[in-house]
Amino acid sequence: MSIELDSYGIMEGINEVIVTTKSIDDRPNAAPIGLIRHCGRLTVRVFNESHTCTNIKDTGLLAVNIVDDPVVFVQSALEDLDKEKFEFIETGTGINFPVLASSNGWVIFKAGIKEGNIATIAELQFITGNIKSMGIRPVNRGFNAVIEAAIYATRYKVFNDETFLFKIKSYKDVINKCGGRSEKEAYSLINKLL
Ligand SMILES: Cc1cc2nc3c(=O)[nH]c(=O)nc-3n(C[C@H](O)[C@H](O)[C@H](O)COP(=O)(O)O)c2cc1C
Repeated sequence: MSIELDSYGIMEGINEVIVTTKSIDDRPNAAPIGLIRHCGRLTVRVFNESHTCTNIKDTGLLAVNIVDDPVVFVQSALEDLDKEKFEFIETGTGINFPVLASSNGWVIFKAGIKEGNIATIAELQFITGNIKSMGIRPVNRGFNAVIEAAIYATRYKVFNDETFLFKIKSYKDVINKCGGRSEKEAYSLINKLL
């Protein structure tokens, strides 16, 4: 599997992606999740209360979407994506699975489940994938800061702890200095949705 993963840009460490899943009654869902590649294994660790976790347990499947739009990260973290943001992929094995229409590439995986008290670990096996665009992209500190702020925003929603609000505010200056229009839009969406 390592050759396929490299070609999707999924490298050793934690890769921030949007995971799409579907419920048993076929409703698509999207959420940012850290995709962990470590010592030849590929896993995700998802909190048990999330829709993503329920859907993975119910279907045994997930799709990893490689996305570089900060607004999509924030929307999928803090609200439900509109149905038209998804497309359904017929894999040829009878599986019809949602991916994000705007992704740069996606991979559908079979998920082997290991349940825990707080979170569930899913070990992933490649089924099929598609690389849609191979643009090169320098590091943008504003983009990275939006990702950090979005993580704290999801924690604030769960724990309602004001410390997370201070952390979110601490990224404002770097987003204004280094981010482009999308990063600034994503950051104001975080503040609007909290
Ligand atoms: C960049 C980023 C990475 C995240 N990584 C994870 C993760 O690895 N596991 C997890 O359970 N939640 C993670 N989250 C939080 C979920 O995306 C968030 O709780 C989301 O609302 C879950 O949505 P759902 O209930 O539709 O599945 C992450 C959030 C962000 C912004």
